[in-house]
Formats: sequence, structure tokens, C-alpha cells
Amino acid sequence: MTSPLRLGIAGLGTVGTGVVKIVQNHADLLATRSGRPITITAVSARSKSKDRGVDLSNYAWEDDPVALAKRKDVDVFVELMGGSEGPAKAATEAALAAGKDVVSANKALLAIHGQALAEAAESGGQVIRFEAAVAGGIPVVKALTEGLAGNDILRIMGVMNGSCNYILTRMEDAGLSYQEVFDEANNLGYLEADPELDVGGIDAGHKLALLASIAFGTQVNFDAVDLEGIGSVTIEDIHQAADMGYKIKLLGVAQMSGRGLEQRMAPCLVPDTSPLGQLAGGTNMVVLEGDSVGQIVLRGAGAGEGPTASAVMGDVLDIARGFRLSTFGQPASGLRAARAAHSAIPAPYYLRLQLVDKPGALAKVAKILGEAGISIHRMRQYDHTDDTAPVLIVTHKTTRTALSEAIAAFADTDVVDGTPVALRIEEV
Ligand code: NAP
Ligand code: HSE
Repeated sequence: MTSPLRLGIAGLGTVGTGVVKIVQNHADLLATRSGRPITITAVSARSKSKDRGVDLSNYAWEDDPVALAKRKDVDVFVELMGGSEGPAKAATEAALAAGKDVVSANKALLAIHGQALAEAAESGGQVIRFEAAVAGGIPVVKALTEGLAGNDILRIMGVMNGSCNYILTRMEDAGLSYQEVFDEANNLGYLEADPELDVGGIDAGHKLALLASIAFGTQVNFDAVDLEGIGSVTIEDIHQAADMGYKIKLLGVAQMSGRGLEQRMAPCLVPDTSPLGQLAGGTNMVVLEGDSVGQIVLRGAGAGEGPTASAVMGDVLDIARGFRLSTFGQPASGLRAARAAHSAIPAPYYLRLQLVDKPGALAKVAKILGEAGISIHRMRQYDHTDDTAPVLIVTHKTTRTALSEAIAAFADTDVVDGTPVALRIEEV
């Protein structure tokens, strides 16, 4: 058996302790599979005295993750601290500069600095692997970079934030408002320390940007993700979408067209019978579409100690086996700076408006939609409350621009009360 692969682990929280457990509990299995022992040399976290439920006594301790990253007895720097800046960035850069390979679960760091880090890795002959950064335990990075490498990737879709899917599912199941379920999830510790990362779609947007880079051979560009969180999803929309045969999901979609690279992370309607529609609770799902393979659906735990550590160890084993893949699946120097699509590919939309109950009201709405070139596919009016009634319209394919024009024109009539809700219906 050849020399051990020596890990330096920075971050001993949920994921870091999970990695330590796998290295300790599966030592024989890891050595057999990779042909060499996998060992931990040194670790780092903020508090040396914290009881983490794992035995760290055989590992050197470093207060400073940058010092850990530069240690001569570390081959692979495993970054499990988090954050796009600060120690995670400094230590990752230091590791690459010192000639270490890097394994990271840090989607924020890679979504923002991925191109520069990939170029730095490549210039020194190192690799950066980040399976755990996207959809936790689901091996979607491997699927895209390896199994589907022979495909022209047509579209990526996914529910990639378990907390948001939990909130939306729980709202529907319990008939609770967004705020009630948000408070409940926060009290249960389901949300990030900054909950806006989850409910604002930022965490999921980071993941989508990483997958888009691999799929379309483009430089990772989180700033170009069209982001909308779930904070404005109401229980009324969840119920009424269900009545029309849909579920509301925080759905990420990336596709390349003549319009440029489209990256969207926003609440969308999907058919309730589709795999995405049936995804309940905190589970993740990623749907990949390739020209030869057709559609692939990957589903599993997107977070948590075991699933995320499992993904980290998959990357570690690849390095131990001598498998050296470029960060985004192709040389970083060849990744294109994609033109961001200025408008989304047309789609059907769900439109909910509060219609004033008087003669000709519906005709006025229909006329405005017609003038905007929007065709009505289905429509339903619900019971009146006072002197208005909720009306749901499912349109044929249209653009968001045309819909926004129509919504603006509604405001000039005396028949639409308040601001209508418009949600894209994704064809999945
Ligand atoms: P966590 O439980 O908050 O742990 C973070 C760890 O980093 C802690 O051990 C902390 O030390 C350490 N740390 C923070 N700042 C540090 C510093 N300046 N110097 C040294 N150590 C420092 O986080 P986590 O959930 O394990 O997440 C780690 C990474 O994995 C993040 O990038 C996250 O986005 C990603 N990820 C997490 C999950 C998940 O399910 N949790 C899933 C996918 C990806 P102390 O313990 O001493 O405070
Ligand atoms: N906060 C994320 C989620 C887990 O809820 O899916 C870490 O990626």
C-alpha cells in the first residue's frame, strides 16, 4: 500500500465532525477502495475546548486555518468553515499557493470566487473538488462532470434548498402562513444563522450558479442569477395553485439559449404529479437534461452531517485514487464569460387577481391580456369576499415582460383590487 493521503480539516461543525467520523469509522474501507490510507493530520476550528463528540486527540490543532492550510504534513486542505470571504477564502488561497489540493463544501466561496480559485488551482497543478457544496449528499457534480460528460446539457432544474422546501410543504400541510412556519423552522434550528441565505434564495442560487458553470462551460456567475426568495408566497397561492393541479417550489433553472445564459432561482409552479411536485419536506431534487441521455432525476438529502460528509469523502477518495478533474469539469482558462439572458424563455404563468364584482370587470381584464398578446388557457373564479372575488388565470406561454405590461395596465382600471400575483409555471 502506498503512502497515506493526509487531510487537514478546517471547520469541525456539522460537516467537519461528520468527516472525522467517516475517516475514523471507515478507515479500512477507505484504504481498500483508494489503495492508500486516508488519515487526518491536523484540524482547526474557533474553539479548541468545545466537546464535538469525536476524538481529536491524535490530530495537531491549529487556531489559524491559514496555518493549517500551509502545513507540510497536509496533502489535502478540507475547508468546512463556510463564508465567501474571511478565513475560508484566505485559507483556501493559502492551501493552493502551498501546493495542496482542496476539498470544500463551501458554495458561497465557490459561487463568488470560483473562477479565480479554479485558475489558481490549475496554474499550480492542484485540484479543487466541491461535491458537498451542491445538494449535500446527492452526487450531482459527479453526474454532470463525469457520467453526463458526453451530453450537450439542455437544462438543469432543482429544488436545492431543503429549508425552503420544508417551509413550503409545511405551509400546505398545516395550512399555516409563511411567517408562522418561518418562525417554527427557525426555532427548530432548520435555517442558516442568517435565514435570508435560505429563504432569500441565495444559498440555492449559489448552488445553481455552480452547476450552470459545469453544464454550460461558463465562468461561474452568481451575480447573474435572477433571484427571488419565498417570503412573498402566501398560503392562498399554495392552496389555489393546488386547486389548479400545481405545487409551488423554490425552483432553480439554468439553460442556455440564443438569449444567453438563463439562471433563475424563484418560486415557480410545477405540476403536482411531477417528481419535483411530489418532493416534500427538506429533501433536494436535481433534474438534469442532456441531448443524448434525456432526463435524469436525482433525489436525496441536501444537508446534514452524514449526507454532506459522504459527499466530501467522495471527493477525498477521488484525490486519493489519483483522479484529477478540473474544478468545473474543463480547464478554467477555457470557461467562457457567458452573456446573461435579459429575458426568460416564454412560459405559461399563474396569475391571481382580486376582481371587483361589477358588470364587465372580467371583460376588461381579458381585453388587457389580449392586447398584451397573452392568451388565457384556464380560468377560475372563487367565492366573493365583500365586493371582490379572487380570479385565477393560467395563461398560455408568454413572456414576463408582456405579463408585467398587462399587470401595469390593470392598475389603470377600476376592476382589479391590489397587486396581482404572477408566478411562472415551469414545464418539467
Ligand atoms: P458549522 O456547523 O457552523 O461549522 C463551522 C465550523 O467552522 C465550526 O467548527 C467553527 O468553529 C469553524 N469556524 C468558523 N470560523 C472559523 C475560523 N475563523 N477559524 C477556524 N474555524 C472556524 O457549519 P457546517 O454546517 O458544518 O457547514 C460547513 C460548510 O459546509 C459551509 O460552507 C456550509 O455552507 C457547507 N454545507 C453545510 C451543509 C450542512 O448540512 N450543514 C450542507 C452542505 C454544505 P467552532 O465550532 O469552534 O465555532
Ligand atoms: N441551508 C441549506 C438547506 C443546507 O436548507 O438546504 C446547506 O446547503
